[in-house]
Amino acid sequence: MQSKDIRHHEGSIFEHSLEVSFRSYKIAKKLKMDYRAIARGALLHDFFLYDWRTKGNRNLKYLKESHAVSHPRVALENARKYFDVSDMEADIIKKHMFPTTIVPPKYKESWIVTMVDKYYAVKEYQEGFFRKHSLQLRFYQLQQTLSFLTV
Ligand SMILES: [Fe+2]
Ligand SMILES: [Fe+2]
Repeated sequence: MQSKDIRHHEGSIFEHSLEVSFRSYKIAKKLKMDYRAIARGALLHDFFLYDWRTKGNRNLKYLKESHAVSHPRVALENARKYFDVSDMEADIIKKHMFPTTIVPPKYKESWIVTMVDKYYAVKEYQEGFFRKHSLQLRFYQLQQTLSFLTV
């Protein structure tokens, strides 16, 4: 399964990771931080490759933990399987769900990614909420119009 096929609120994990990475990169570049590590870490921060909403899809090793707690560790294991991951990149991936990870981020770059990730998660959720409810409103209006026409 590819990250483009896995839903993240309204988009895919791939789109979400690209957005988080690009925004974090822009901030890091402006603040003269390690923009290479932040871009790479943010791109891989949700590299878990399963739809956690589907029963039986979760990583068996972490079944007893919630997805919010376990997926940063799964993402880091996957990232290390395919790429050379620096300490800073590992910290970005592992701590991006802080405070659910309890241990706070070690680098300021990790703090940037955890905040940018939360910003996009809320934004994606809001977009989905408004889209769903505006569709329901349009359906209701259509029903009202049809009931008016059939009376
Ligand atoms: Fe995440
Ligand atoms: Fe994320």
